[in-house]
Amino acid sequence: MGSGLVQYGNTIAVSDISLVAHPGEILTILGPNGSGKSSLLKSIAGQTSFRGTIRFDGKIQRTDTVSYMPQDISGRANLTVTEVVLLGRVGQLGLRVTQEDLDIVVAVLYELGISKLASRHLSELSGGQRQLVYLAQALVRKPRALVLDEPISALDLRHQLEVLSLVQRLTKDQSLTTICVLHDINAAARFSDNIVLLKEGRLVSFGLPRDILSAAQIEVVFEVESTIFEDNDGYRFVCPKRSISF
Ligand SMILES: Nc1ncnc2c1ncn2[C@@H]1O[C@H](COP(=O)(O)OP(=O)(O)O)[C@@H](O)[C@H]1O
Ligand SMILES: [Mg+2]
Repeated sequence: MGSGLVQYGNTIAVSDISLVAHPGEILTILGPNGSGKSSLLKSIAGQTSFRGTIRFDGKIQRTDTVSYMPQDISGRANLTVTEVVLLGRVGQLGLRVTQEDLDIVVAVLYELGISKLASRHLSELSGGQRQLVYLAQALVRKPRALVLDEPISALDLRHQLEVLSLVQRLTKDQSLTTICVLHDINAAARFSDNIVLLKEGRLVSFGLPRDILSAAQIEVVFEVESTIFEDNDGYRFVCPKRSISF
């Protein structure tokens, strides 16, 4: 997968990025606010115009191979949870909703622990509940690539772990190519196969969490001083100490 450039008027949001994501693996994009993470994801998901090429299995990617969960998941639509999640089946939906569509929706709601919300209106849910609903919508598409923009930003600790564990399991079991943006560096270190560090629209580094997450790299990208720990399982932990930008 490669992405040349995303530009909004005179603002260059992403430039000169080339990276590869593998089936069965989670690739996580980390970077400060405004570093181009969402723009990069949108181009991968075919949601914005960009210059460059994205290939899937060697072929130019069709957007129907990708399931995309956007960062902005407002709840204004006057739809129930089941209806919102069923919308994820649009494309597979024929003239009517099939029993298979409904079975898939029920199974995914169950897997995410939100079966009880099925007939609630989206507008009545908390931000975290809504995030789970939109994740369900992405999952029912049965994609080959899963593209998630800050999927755990509104979730409590338990749900963060559960969602990332589920995404990791689905990624492995269904050989999905998963690309996500996270703000939680430690969650990224725990669940990612590879990490991309972005700054000002450019790729700073790309590789294994243990190679990428050094105090020097964190300082370059996030402009904070930090101490890095490693637990007995070999997972990295970044403990930020102070800002160095002013
Ligand atoms: N629709 C848009 N129109 C104009 N500028 C945008 C738009 N979306 C994003 N940008 C700009 O592009 C840059 C990257 O934004 P974004 O990709 O959302 O970053 P991130 O997700 O890393 O916070 C920022 O400078 C942002 O202001
Ligand atoms: Mg973003």
